[in-house]
Amino acid sequence: MDWGMKNRLSKIIRPETGRTVMLAVDHGYFLGPTTGLEEPGKTVEPLLQYADTLMLTRGVLRSCMDASKNVPIVLRVSGGTSILGNLADEGTTVSMRDALRLNVSGVAMSIFVGSELERKSLLALADLINEAEEFGVPVLAVTAVGKEMARDARYLGLACRIAAELGAHVVKTYYCEEFEKVVKNCPVPIVIAGGKKIPEREAIELSYNAVRRGAVGVDMGRNIFQSEHPVAMIRTVREIVHKDLAPDKAWDLFNTLAREKGKAFA
Ligand code: R5P
Repeated sequence: MDWGMKNRLSKIIRPETGRTVMLAVDHGYFLGPTTGLEEPGKTVEPLLQYADTLMLTRGVLRSCMDASKNVPIVLRVSGGTSILGNLADEGTTVSMRDALRLNVSGVAMSIFVGSELERKSLLALADLINEAEEFGVPVLAVTAVGKEMARDARYLGLACRIAAELGAHVVKTYYCEEFEKVVKNCPVPIVIAGGKKIPEREAIELSYNAVRRGAVGVDMGRNIFQSEHPVAMIRTVREIVHKDLAPDKAWDLFNTLAREKGKAFA
């Protein structure tokens, strides 16, 4: 692996722990003004210092983020579809040249394994990786799950392995039963998405279980920025990911941090 690739990867996955807390705020690329991200700059501002990496789109990066903040960026470079259409029909939306101009540490693209557009989506990932390799830019492959797909170890294991075989440097997927099998069968680091907002206690357990079973961290969005206490949540997730804080202690920490803001959870 060349120096530039290694250097960029070290900005995504922290060398000190081999783990990462990625803050995902790219949802608008197909969901539009997602709850909590109506004004992305305001949402992200208090959370940034606790994120190892920020995942977002070119438009939000340019229009809402302070370029002087030194947070590594993983840029979503796929899109072109919306929640109203066929999501699997995504294409590449940002050139590598522009991604480099934005000084990103990595680029991200979804794949739709098992969809009728599987081939198109996988070859788009391969094309992106071919280009990214030329410039030493890591590629994060996101295993998108269609409504008809099961979020189980068999399906997610298949999707993660294919992404890795095509050359993705990091894979983002969902947590599932027998998650360790997904990790074992994927030769590159895996981060988990949080998915739809769930109670904080459950999101804490999800994060803990994922890293205990081999994920290198989270690429989490809604369970942080849609929490009533987003700063407490990201700080707690950070302790879980980087220090293996167990769920009971993490829940106590979350409540302590939330209480500092004036409202405790039961
Ligand atoms: C979806 O494909 C987007 O890439 C999100 O970044 C991803 O789902 C992670 O966000 P959340 O934790 O809200 O699921």
